[in-house]
Amino acid sequence: MHTVGVIGAGQMGAGIAQVTAQAGYRVLLADVSKERADAGKSGIARQLARAVEKGKLDAAAADQALAKIETIDGPAGMAKCDLIIEAATEREEIKRAIFAEVGKVMTTSAILASNTSSIPITRLAQASPDPARFIGVHFFNPVPVMGLIEIIVGLATSNATVAAIEAYAAALGKQVVRANDAPGFIVNRVLMPMLNEACFALGEGVATIKDIDLACQLGLNHPMGPLTLADFIGLDTCLEITRVLFEGTGDPKFRPAPVLVKYVEAGWFGRKTGRGFYDYSGAEPVPTR
Ligand code: CAA
Repeated sequence: MHTVGVIGAGQMGAGIAQVTAQAGYRVLLADVSKERADAGKSGIARQLARAVEKGKLDAAAADQALAKIETIDGPAGMAKCDLIIEAATEREEIKRAIFAEVGKVMTTSAILASNTSSIPITRLAQASPDPARFIGVHFFNPVPVMGLIEIIVGLATSNATVAAIEAYAAALGKQVVRANDAPGFIVNRVLMPMLNEACFALGEGVATIKDIDLACQLGLNHPMGPLTLADFIGLDTCLEITRVLFEGTGDPKFRPAPVLVKYVEAGWFGRKTGRGFYDYSGAEPVPTR
């Protein structure tokens, strides 16, 4: 494997492009426009520069990684890729349109992977040219920091595809877990009910936003409290995944908390919109209630 295409230059896509380039692969980075892809690459340059400043990376290695990333107009330019990772918006119709476009140009040996956090891989594979060469490759945010890749094996995914992705993950220095194509896979199956439950607790007046977070952060030794983490992931994404769990299992234990639904209806999606359970407009996040 030599060249990896990354579609989507947002937080996840840029992170994937960065760690892939740092592992020595050539990376083609695309988004809806060349400008968006360039903005993603500028963000990667800033991340690498910070790592150099902190003495975690030498300047030559940072320059080398950046030089390996080429931004392109769109997925149609990915004909030379051995692996193409889609990290676009978590909407099925958008992902399907990307697979149709990239499917026209990819080689008969290339692998197509989705970084979806919740859409069934077996279903998405139907929009790809060859479901045997389709797989879920789920990274975690922030990608350069998080040590895990969750591999989701669809019904038709071949063993050769799984082996190729495991080798790629090892080259990135990430640990791999294999999940079957069940709602939420492993991490979100366990994480989202916790975040959703924190929203129920808030809605029922069990405690304030600040105390729910402090309790879980210090009482469970988690790096972030659940409401801070939900803001970090995006409340729209949390709601979407929770709905997938609820609809995919039919189990009422996964029903979305009304508070979560309300915040999403208000357009308060968390850090990315500047407001969620916290207001991020000042120097320090301030709880919104
Ligand atoms: N990109 C690269 N590096 C980053 C980063 C980013 N966006 N944000 C933080 N870092 C690095 C920092 O540079 C720092 O590195 P060093 O220790 O080498 O100096 C390190 O991470 C710690 O950062 P900070 O000191 O600034 O802050 P922190 O100690 O509060 O850690 C955190 C920040 C790493 C984000 C930590 O709070 C954390 O691990 N939070 C939980 C994250 C998590 O659970 N992610 C998974 C979400 S679920 C998901 O992604 C999947 C899904 O489908 C929803």
